Amino acid sequence: MTAAQSPAPQARGPQQGRETWTSNRGFILAAIGSAVGLGNIWRFPGVAYEGGGGAFLIPYLIALVTAGIPILFLDYAVGHRFRAAAPLAFRRMWRRAEALGWFQTAILFVISTYYAVIIAWSLSYFYYSFGTKWGERPDEFFTGDYLRVGEAGVSGELVGTVAWPLIGVWALIIVILALGVAKGVEKLNVIGLPLLVLGFAALVIKAVTLPGASDGLNALFTPQWDKLSDLNVWIAAYSQIFFSMSIAFGIMISYASFQKRKSNMTSSGLVVGFANSSFELLAGIGVFSALGFLAHEQGKTYEQLDGLTGPILSFVTFPRVISEMPGSAFFGALFFGSLAIAGFTSLISLMLGVSVAFQEKFGLSRTSASVTVGVVAAIVSFGLFATTTGLLALDTVDQFANNIGIVVSAIAMCVIAVWVARTIETLRAHLNAVSTFKLGWWWVPVIGVYAPLFLTVMLVQKIYDLIVDGYEDLPTWYVGVFGWGTVGFLFVFAAVLTAVGWKGRDDPSFTPWPIVGSGPSSAESKESVR
Ligand code: PFF
Repeated sequence: MTAAQSPAPQARGPQQGRETWTSNRGFILAAIGSAVGLGNIWRFPGVAYEGGGGAFLIPYLIALVTAGIPILFLDYAVGHRFRAAAPLAFRRMWRRAEALGWFQTAILFVISTYYAVIIAWSLSYFYYSFGTKWGERPDEFFTGDYLRVGEAGVSGELVGTVAWPLIGVWALIIVILALGVAKGVEKLNVIGLPLLVLGFAALVIKAVTLPGASDGLNALFTPQWDKLSDLNVWIAAYSQIFFSMSIAFGIMISYASFQKRKSNMTSSGLVVGFANSSFELLAGIGVFSALGFLAHEQGKTYEQLDGLTGPILSFVTFPRVISEMPGSAFFGALFFGSLAIAGFTSLISLMLGVSVAFQEKFGLSRTSASVTVGVVAAIVSFGLFATTTGLLALDTVDQFANNIGIVVSAIAMCVIAVWVARTIETLRAHLNAVSTFKLGWWWVPVIGVYAPLFLTVMLVQKIYDLIVDGYEDLPTWYVGVFGWGTVGFLFVFAAVLTAVGWKGRDDPSFTPWPIVGSGPSSAESKESVR
C-alpha cells in the first residue's frame, strides 16, 4: 500500500513547520519567474522559425495542451499532496520512486551549472552595451576577445571576463537561497518579474517600430505548412514546452510543496502556462522585429541572415542589431538586462529544487544546504563552463540533459503515477478538492497513455539521431564524455543518492493532506479541506 492510498489519520499542523509562499500571488509570480527564462528569449524564436514559422504554432499549442499543462498539473499535485522536494515527494508516493526524484535533482544541478554562466555573460554584455564594446565584429569579439574559445577539449584555463560576473551570480544565488522561500525567492520574483515585463515590453515596442520590422515578423509568422509533416518539428515543439515551462524537472514539485493547504492549484497552473507562452510569443515578436531591422540595414533578406538561435543569436546577432541602432545603449541594456533577470528568476528555482532535496534527505539547515549546494555547483560551473572550452561544453551538455534527461524523467513520472503507484485518481481528486478549475477524466489517459507514448517516440528518435549522426560534427570522444557522460551522470547520481540512508525528514507519520472528492483514498475523502 502506498502512502497515497493509506488511510489518513489526523494530519499534523497545516504545514508541519514547512515554509510557505506568503500568498497564492507569490506562488504564481515565482512559478512564472521560473518558467520565463533564457528559453523564452533565445530558444523559442529560433525554434519557431526553424519549425515552420506560423505553422509551428500548431504543434506548439498542441504540445502545450496535451503535455505542458497536464504534466504541470501532475507536478503540482505531487508537490502539494506530498509536501516535499522531488525525492521525498516521490518516495512518499511510492517508496522506490525516490530515484526518479534524484534523477530530476541531478538534471537541475547540471542545468544550473551552465545556466549561471549564461547569466554571467548577460551581465557582462549589459555593461558592454554602454559603449558597444563588441565593436565592428561582434562574432570575433564574443568567441575571441570575450570567451577566448579554444579547441574542443577540456581546459582548466579560466576566462576572467566570465569568471568575475559569475562570482556575483553565485554569491547572490546563495544569499537568496539562504533567505528562504518567502523572504528570498518570492521577494526576488516580486521585484524581478515586473521589472522584466516592463523592460521587455519597452524593448518589443521599440523593436516593432524599427524599419524592416515587418519583414522579420513575416518571416516568423508566415506558415510553412509542409513542416508539419516532419516529426522533428513536433519533437522540437514538445522539447520547447518542457524546458520553457520548467516541467518534469522537479521544480514545480518543490514550488507546489510550499503552497498553503487551501490553494487553487489548477487555476494557478493555467495562469502560469498561458503567461509563459504569452511571454514566449512576445519574445518572438521582439526578436524577429529586431532581426528584420538588421536585415533591412544590411540590405539583405531575412533568410540571408545567420546566427539566429541560441547563444549566437543573443551574443553575436543581437549586438549587431544594437550597433546599427540610434540610442543603442538603451536598447542593449534592456535586452541584456531582461536576459539576466529572466535567467536569475529561473536559476533560483533550479537551485531551490536541489537545496530543498538535500535539506530533506540529510536533515541540513536551510543555510548549510544553500551554502553547500551553492558552492559545489559554483565550483563545477567555474571548472567546466567559465574556461576557454566552456562554450562547446555548455552546448553539448545542454543538448543531452534536455533532449534525453528530461524526456526520460517525464516518461518515468507519468508511468509511475498512473501504472505503478496508481495514485493518479487520488492526485486528480486532490487537485479538484482544492481548485476551482476541475480536472476531468481526460487527464488520466493523457498522462497515462498519450504523453508517455509520444515522449517515447520522441526519445527513441533523438537517441537514434545522436548515435547515427553524432552531435554538431564534434569528435566522438567529446560527445561521449560531455554528452553521454552527462546522461550517465544523471543515472549514477540518482542511484547513489537513493542508496544513501535517510538522515533527515523521512517522517514515518507523514500523511497526505485530507481531501474532498472521489478516488481510492476514500478514508481521506471524508475530511474537508480546512
Ligand atoms: N524555464 C526556463 C527557461 O525557459 O529558460 C529554464 C528552466 C528553469 C528549466 C527551471 C528548468 C527548470 F527547472
